[in-house]
Amino acid sequence: MMTAFGTIETAVTAMKEGAFDFITKPFDTDHLLLLIRRALETQRLRAANLLLKDELASKFGAPKIIGKSRGISEVAQKIQKVAPGKTTVLLLGESGTGKELFARAIHNLSPRNEEPFVPINCAAIPRELLESELFGHERGAFTGADARKVGKFELADRGTVFLDEIAEMDLSLQAKLLRVLQEEEIERVGGVKSIKIDLRIVAASNKDIEKAVEEKSFREDLWYRLNVFPITIPPLRDRKEDIPLLAEYFINKYCLEMKTAVKDISKEALDILINYPWKGNVRELENCVERGIILCDGNTMTAEHIALNAQAVVENCLRNIPLEGSLEETAKEATRIAETQRIIGALKETKGNKSRASELLRVSYKTLLTKIKDYGIES
Ligand SMILES: Nc1ncnc2c1ncn2[C@@H]1O[C@H](COP(=O)(O)OP(=O)(O)OP(=O)(O)O)[C@@H](O)[C@H]1O
Ligand SMILES: [Mg+2]
Repeated sequence: MMTAFGTIETAVTAMKEGAFDFITKPFDTDHLLLLIRRALETQRLRAANLLLKDELASKFGAPKIIGKSRGISEVAQKIQKVAPGKTTVLLLGESGTGKELFARAIHNLSPRNEEPFVPINCAAIPRELLESELFGHERGAFTGADARKVGKFELADRGTVFLDEIAEMDLSLQAKLLRVLQEEEIERVGGVKSIKIDLRIVAASNKDIEKAVEEKSFREDLWYRLNVFPITIPPLRDRKEDIPLLAEYFINKYCLEMKTAVKDISKEALDILINYPWKGNVRELENCVERGIILCDGNTMTAEHIALNAQAVVENCLRNIPLEGSLEETAKEATRIAETQRIIGALKETKGNKSRASELLRVSYKTLLTKIKDYGIES
């Protein structure tokens, strides 16, 4: 707060209303710069503190899961209920919905949280290597096995194993996994004795396992073993209320990471995010925000900083003309959607030539540029 008419009362009021400091004119430039620096530092520390708190919380039992939609609350409730026991949990959901995040949450909320959490991506490890990755091997078990190797299952003893993309697992390995689940023991490749282990299994898949069972690429008996407590995480497009919260969370996260002051997001930009179909779910949203923060030099992220597939934006908008609020707002939204679609069409037709597109649409070049910017159309 800066004023030429400083009194004690106004100073007190300003500070009460949230001013960082109170300066009376004439002021000293160096002093002002110092204050600004201090204010920015305070803001940065506040954001850092928030994130650290989240991180601590996630280490000590209450992992940070953002969202207040019914869909996500139901998932969170199920996780709290199932976490304390040893029940096998199957997490289902599209790519990027947070399956790994929830798997970690289950582990952190369980009495095993001091023991290891071992994620295994069944799709990422080559089939020939997966068996020795999981079960380990004895020296000389096969060519190249010149030392004993302890497998992931053994490493995870008393902790939690997260079997990601379980539907991609090879049929022969599925049989071995079934045995681990039934007998709670493993055998190293090339080994002779069984080793008792105590594991909590959390599995995840973004594919329809039941279909895989029908197609005989997934063992039915294993499916029953895994499908004890299935939890389906709804796609982001079905829980739009979570989008503003997630956007804010990621803006904070990336501003902090990039050591810039925390930015705002404009209403238009947020509307675009809310209406986008997000095939890659939360991960795609996170990447989009990260890109936006890099592109945005000012204090506010706007539609122009959001690079998304324009056709998908439009298709989704059409289904989202508001059915409440004033007629004027509805008309404005409908116009925005219709114009966006027309502009994209014209730009496609002219292969991105904006000056020719403006002729086609019979508006001035300047009007077209403004609209492209306002509507967040990626040329
Ligand atoms: N509700 C949420 N709150 C906060 N962050 C989330 C939430 N859901 C997902 N994320 C974040 O989104 C990213 C993707 O989540 P995650 O890796 O758990 O997805 P996934 O379902 O395992 O995806 P895939 O099937 O592609 O492996 C992660 O960075 C995760 O932290
Ligand atoms: Mg994953």
